[in-house]
Amino acid sequence: MPLMFTPLTEADIEQSIDAAQEAWSRMASLDIGRPVAYPRRTELIVRAYMDADPEGSVVARQDGKVVGNIFCHAWGDIGWIGPLEVEPFSQGQGVGTRLLRHGIAYLRRSGCKGIGLETMANKERNLRFYRAEGFEVVGEMEMLERSIDGGPMPISVGVAGREEVAGMGPWLRQAWPATTLVPSLLQSCDMGMGRVLLHRDQEGVDGMALVHTFERETGNHASIRLLLIHPDCVQPESAFTDLIRGVESCAKACGRNSMVARLSSDGPATGWLSSIGYRSYGSSTRMVLGTLLDPLAPCILSFAG
Ligand SMILES: CC(C)(COP(=O)(O)OP(=O)(O)OC[C@H]1O[C@@H](n2cnc3c(N)ncnc32)[C@H](O)[C@@H]1OP(=O)(O)O)[C@@H](O)C(=O)NCCC(=O)NCCS
Repeated sequence: MPLMFTPLTEADIEQSIDAAQEAWSRMASLDIGRPVAYPRRTELIVRAYMDADPEGSVVARQDGKVVGNIFCHAWGDIGWIGPLEVEPFSQGQGVGTRLLRHGIAYLRRSGCKGIGLETMANKERNLRFYRAEGFEVVGEMEMLERSIDGGPMPISVGVAGREEVAGMGPWLRQAWPATTLVPSLLQSCDMGMGRVLLHRDQEGVDGMALVHTFERETGNHASIRLLLIHPDCVQPESAFTDLIRGVESCAKACGRNSMVARLSSDGPATGWLSSIGYRSYGSSTRMVLGTLLDPLAPCILSFAG
């Protein structure tokens, strides 16, 4: 039976998670030199991908069995790709390339001018895989982590209500003109994935953060998905660190004990995080197809799935 590429449906979720786990377990086992079982992707995360971009979540199926997945997201003019994986017995036969092409075609149809992704820094085969479809390396991403003690929420920071998030379009376009972020932010809140926090000075909102606290999930860590400082912010470092304290406080209240963030190693934000105790636990390579505009001021932003 020929390979089929179809949107991921409810009935595929379990097999899609299996394919991902087998792909990542094999990669980790080869890296480490002994068999290891990679943690399974959770259903909540798969449903969040499907909910955000039903057409961007595609499975490859052979003889009725899911052998690979790709998840793609359109954020206004920007698209991102990932995760993407093919189960080990089907690798090296063109399945990944065809999934990637489905993803690129979907994001282009959605109006994305630039498409970003992140891949392991030391994996020459993966770089070659993406380069073959036109992606270019644009920089290194730092992965930082810290245990959180969860002090009080700074008075300059508050959790945004749904109405407030829904009305953030104009502010967000000033901080990051390329994107339409409101639907993604609302989705994170509505699905119980996380919260949006706002930093205010006397003039109004000058920074925002989206923290994924995964509150309906078991687990230990929370993740700063996005942190944007407004280009006119007078004290960007202070707004940034207050927002970090805010997301940590929020995550601790949801039972999380550590915080992770992935961000470009260019710019001051990596240094700001290091100065408040964040430590690197790895790095990845950012690759781009087309034009991808970064936010206008220091930020935390990752295109990792
Ligand atoms: C990377 C991956 C999605 C590629 O899918 P695939 O179906 O094996 O790829 P294709 O057959 O379309 O293309 C083959 C090319 O992919 C790259 N590749 C990367 N890892 C590979 C692997 N384990 N096996 C085969 N090819 C691999 C190579 O460039 C290869 O070309 P080469 O044979 O000239 O070296 C798949 O190997 C995989 O799931 N790996 C583990 C998870 C992963 O790394 N995901 C991407 C993270 S950003």
